[in-house]
Amino acid sequence: MEFVVTDQTAMSFASKTAPADGVVVVFAEEGPKLTPTAQDLDKKSKGLLSRAAEITGFKGKKEQTVDLLAPQGLKFARLVLVGMNKASAYSPEDWLNLGGAVRGMLSGKEAPAAHIFLETAGGVAPADIASFALGALLRGYKFKKYKTKTRKKNDAAAETNDRTLKKIVIHCADPKAAGQAFAPARALAEGVTLARDLVNEPANVLGPAEFATRAKGLSKLGVQVDVLGPKALQKLRMNALLAVGQGSARPSHVAVMQWKGAGTRGGEPIVIVGKGVTFDTGGISLKPAAGMEEMKGDMAGAACVVGLMHELAARKAKVNAVGIIGLVENMPSGSAQRPGDVVTAMSGQTIEVLNTDAEGRMVLADCLWYAQNRFKPKAVINLATLTGAVMVALGKEHAGLFSNNDELANQLTAAGSATGEKLWRLPLGPKYDKMIDSKVADMKNTGGKWGGSISAAQFLQRFIKEGTPWAHLDIAGTAMSSVDSEINRSWGSGFGVRLLDRLIADHYERR
Ligand code: BES
Ligand code: MN
Ligand code: ZN
Repeated sequence: MEFVVTDQTAMSFASKTAPADGVVVVFAEEGPKLTPTAQDLDKKSKGLLSRAAEITGFKGKKEQTVDLLAPQGLKFARLVLVGMNKASAYSPEDWLNLGGAVRGMLSGKEAPAAHIFLETAGGVAPADIASFALGALLRGYKFKKYKTKTRKKNDAAAETNDRTLKKIVIHCADPKAAGQAFAPARALAEGVTLARDLVNEPANVLGPAEFATRAKGLSKLGVQVDVLGPKALQKLRMNALLAVGQGSARPSHVAVMQWKGAGTRGGEPIVIVGKGVTFDTGGISLKPAAGMEEMKGDMAGAACVVGLMHELAARKAKVNAVGIIGLVENMPSGSAQRPGDVVTAMSGQTIEVLNTDAEGRMVLADCLWYAQNRFKPKAVINLATLTGAVMVALGKEHAGLFSNNDELANQLTAAGSATGEKLWRLPLGPKYDKMIDSKVADMKNTGGKWGGSISAAQFLQRFIKEGTPWAHLDIAGTAMSSVDSEINRSWGSGFGVRLLDRLIADHYERR
């Protein structure tokens, strides 16, 4: 079985006795305790591997490696021995990260193929092999669409010089079972890749209309996609969303993606809403120039929703799920909204616009209202690069979680721990809600100096109906301008796709 993720390395599974060429990767646990294949290759090379391990002080610890070129007595080009500590203590996330780490080691090692013999004393479960493979694929992602010159060989930045790696073969005890377990992981790899591609894409190429077209592409997978253009949005009275986009020459859109994998017996859907500000200049409340280019990523919430819907459809998830994304460009111009403007949102509530840079909440206000009106959802979750303040509070390690429902909040937190896309819950409450009371309208769109992520969340909650379980994820610190990890070296991380896949698999799918 062979799977190819768009523009990535082909991943396949084979038996432990199948032939290998190129770079061969074997493992050792603490000790070093070499795996059977490692021992076998050590024997075939007349003790080369164990001697090299001894010389370099290799003890089978994580991040320790032994790298042999043209090993004597062996037919392939390179042999890499990788330490893994104690495999029996590995979590699924550890397997994912090991896959990422190994893929990272392969970068710059000039060979078209890598053969990885993944085994341990206790045996590796097919699901763990799938996690490893997913980690390897995600680490291999690189946004190179706009690189017109191919890199020189022996580039110091090895990571950029990995185009020669065409395929990875994972040799394991039961390749058929591993291949089956990998099918949903492959869907995840595609979903995360799609989300990263969208976040990394510059805003001159990806405006609201172009983003909607990308969403429309999901119909190939059986997702029902409806795109609402400016006329339809006016008719629906999505005036808060439209106000944000009115300064742009590029008209606002909303895309609605329905995946009905659980059929009528599955009942009402779970709805995921994403902020899709394709570029956020701040509007008339203009942002400073330094770093403004980062605001091409202000659609990462929407990118996650598209990636998730792709993933659910690609693995035929038994869930009824709807994705709704509000696509606007926040620009200053003669037609832009002004500070002091009052707009009537779709819900009928009025908003005093004190700062045109607090635009995401206005976009989400109408999308959340529309979501509840049209779908009577089991739960609504929104993702948004909503506030810089969430990074002040949590750094880039956790996304902010706000919820009116403890059960949903706990399920999300657990999914975060399981996937490594971590969440930290922050408070909501009536005193915080008061911060956005306005003298002239029902509410204002900013809540003062302190607790900026919380007042933003309170704003969203004013558009959630009594009884709708709702969670808001503020992903400003985790989805863009990402810190390097074992499974990601890209600016856009695709944060949220694996998290919500886990949530849905654990709590919303029919079995
Ligand atoms: N898109 C920004 C938030 C953001 C900042 C995301 C940095 C990623 C990185 C959002 O629209 C915004 O401008 N928020 C303001 C709100 C303020 C005007 C109340 C902020 O965080 O400063
Ligand atoms: Mn803004
Ligand atoms: Zn924004």
